[in-house]
Amino acid sequence: MNRRNGPQKSSYLNIANDIPHGGEGERVLLECVPLDAKRILDLGPGDGRLVKLLKRDRPNMQAVALDISPTMLKMARGYFADDESVKLVEHDLIYPLQELGLFDAVVSSFAIHHLTHKRKRSLDSEVFDILNPSGIFCNLEHVASPNTASDFCPDLFKLLRLLLLLTDRCNVVYQ
Ligand SMILES: C[S@@+](CC[C@H](N)C(=O)[O-])C[C@H]1O[C@@H](n2cnc3c(N)ncnc32)[C@H](O)[C@@H]1O
Repeated sequence: MNRRNGPQKSSYLNIANDIPHGGEGERVLLECVPLDAKRILDLGPGDGRLVKLLKRDRPNMQAVALDISPTMLKMARGYFADDESVKLVEHDLIYPLQELGLFDAVVSSFAIHHLTHKRKRSLDSEVFDILNPSGIFCNLEHVASPNTASDFCPDLFKLLRLLLLLTDRCNVVYQ
């Protein structure tokens, strides 16, 4: 990714629908954002994918979306050209959030991992400060786990392997 221009359309948007479990993650995020949320901030909206999804069930919401990429912002601006309720702002999240007012929800998907851990922490606290008292921060991300599935529950893992082995044997017997 070119830092200033962000991902090229071909490199991210072409795979946006194929991120493993991405659709499930988006569904969970959408469930977490209250239907009566009026002001929503999207950090790293890309072409505005999340805002479009949020608006389906929240037609009266207002959105502010901050992205570093003029390419992505151009696409989002094209889509929301006739929609005054969506404000798209060029902003590099490595810098503190500008004065944006308070929000009922702050959302983000697959964007915050571009920041350093230190900046992620300071961004979390900036987000906390701009949320209404009942506001919610929903961040959909891929993260590297230090553990494998078998580390989490070794006994269950052994049992599953045994079941698979038995199933295999049964198949051999019955075929
Ligand atoms: C993988 S895309 C995800 C876009 C969108 N949220 C989605 O789920 O389809 C990551 C987005 O984060 C933006 N981004 C990356 N680093 C950023 C930064 N430092 N500041 C602002 N936006 C950033 C990129 O420009 C891009 O639009």
